Amino acid sequence: MRVVMIGTGYVGLVSGACFADFGHSVTCIDNDELKITRLRQGVMPIYEPGLEALVARNAAQGRLVFETGAPAAIAEADAIFIAVGTPSRRGDGHADLSYVYAAAEEVAGIVQGFTVLVTKSTVPVGTGDKIDAIIRGACPTADVAVVSNPEFLREGSAIEDFKRPDRVVVGIADERARAVMSELYRPLFLNETPILFTDRRTSELTKYAANAFLAMKITFINEMADLCERVGANVQQVARGVGLDNRIGAKFLNAGPGYGGSCFPKDTLALVHTASDAHAPLRLVETTIRVNTARKQAMAGKVVAALGGDIAGKTIGILGLTFKPNTDDMRESPALDIIPALQRLGARVQAFDPEGREARVLLPDVEFRDGPYEAVAGADAMVLLTEWDQFRALDLDRIKALMRAPVVIDLRNVYRPEEVRQRGFAYTSIGRP
Ligand SMILES: NC(=O)c1ccc[n+]([C@@H]2O[C@H](COP(=O)([O-])OP(=O)(O)OC[C@H]3O[C@@H](n4cnc5c(N)ncnc54)[C@H](O)[C@@H]3O)[C@@H](O)[C@H]2O)c1
Repeated sequence: MRVVMIGTGYVGLVSGACFADFGHSVTCIDNDELKITRLRQGVMPIYEPGLEALVARNAAQGRLVFETGAPAAIAEADAIFIAVGTPSRRGDGHADLSYVYAAAEEVAGIVQGFTVLVTKSTVPVGTGDKIDAIIRGACPTADVAVVSNPEFLREGSAIEDFKRPDRVVVGIADERARAVMSELYRPLFLNETPILFTDRRTSELTKYAANAFLAMKITFINEMADLCERVGANVQQVARGVGLDNRIGAKFLNAGPGYGGSCFPKDTLALVHTASDAHAPLRLVETTIRVNTARKQAMAGKVVAALGGDIAGKTIGILGLTFKPNTDDMRESPALDIIPALQRLGARVQAFDPEGREARVLLPDVEFRDGPYEAVAGADAMVLLTEWDQFRALDLDRIKALMRAPVVIDLRNVYRPEEVRQRGFAYTSIGRP
């Protein structure tokens, strides 16, 4: 199949490269010229394990090309995917659909013959109808079927998630699109991936429902961690005891500093706006957002308490800045709440993250170091913020020798409390005695 991917970011680039790997012929378009120039040179705009090799292989075999505009490819395409950003709209929290609509307008006058236009971006229910109207308004003769195919991949394991998803959801309003979408995802039939065909609105809403549920699950265990701290219970064991119940499941039950990232915060917010506009408020999701926002802001207090109530003039070494490991994505990372709060209270912050380069722009007053040991050297406290694998097996004796005071605040419950304490550290974690 001939595929065009509009938007070559975390989702568009991975999806485009994976479709090419399935054997389709893919043109990835982005209006960021630098991104396209560098992709043509084999330089990835993001950190995602396995991506560089996947792109190189498919580009070398001629199935994957990068363009800033490609009218010929759009005209010939069987399927055009829209994978542009849908950030929160400034001021009101609704999803900003201007990039999606712009992409639809761009293709409207160019498509030829029957073309499936697929929204892969996360878009509020009813957006497909609006895209339909944009196409018909711009080019009444265009033969376009607008499809919803939300993406569920996770940064950090995006390729595996795309190639072996739990399910694929496809929302159609024109039966002819079914065959095209089935052919695109045909390699997944071999591993018996459930492909769920629904109407378009149901598919659009399914993506938000999934993200809202996961955000709620994390927030639930986070509140449970607070309760554990008050009553002397262990949240990790509670989570295990709860998660072994098949009705609940063990994933997304790791207590931490609150969810961040490019999806949960904006998608939960957009969903509560959709629900409130439809006079069907989602009170659980509204509360989840409030609890999570307060949690991220309150996390600095844990560091302050571990240092005896006053951090003015103290040096804090932070390990990990991205919102989760194995990505360079800094969007809505808890670090962006916690670090400024520590600085406002007078602390000096030095930090290390293996990939979060954008942190240097977002956190200009932080002193960036080249490794975990350098980040904690001379510090009065070490705060583990993102659980990169390389932080799991640090030489704690070396850390202790480097630090001014042996204080560890582990916001991801990576270490075993008794082991760290045995080595002479004052140790605080989340929801564990
Ligand atoms: N990042 C994730 O893990 C993830 C997972 C599932 C779904 N999603 C959803 O996928 C969508 C994309 O997210 P992302 O993280 O890949 O965003 P991103 O910001 O990384 O990428 C979007 C890209 O689109 C480009 N773009 C914008 N308008 C364009 C246009 N008119 N023509 C060509 N290129 C254009 C931008 O330059 C950018 O490179 C969002 O709706 C998001 O909610 C993201």
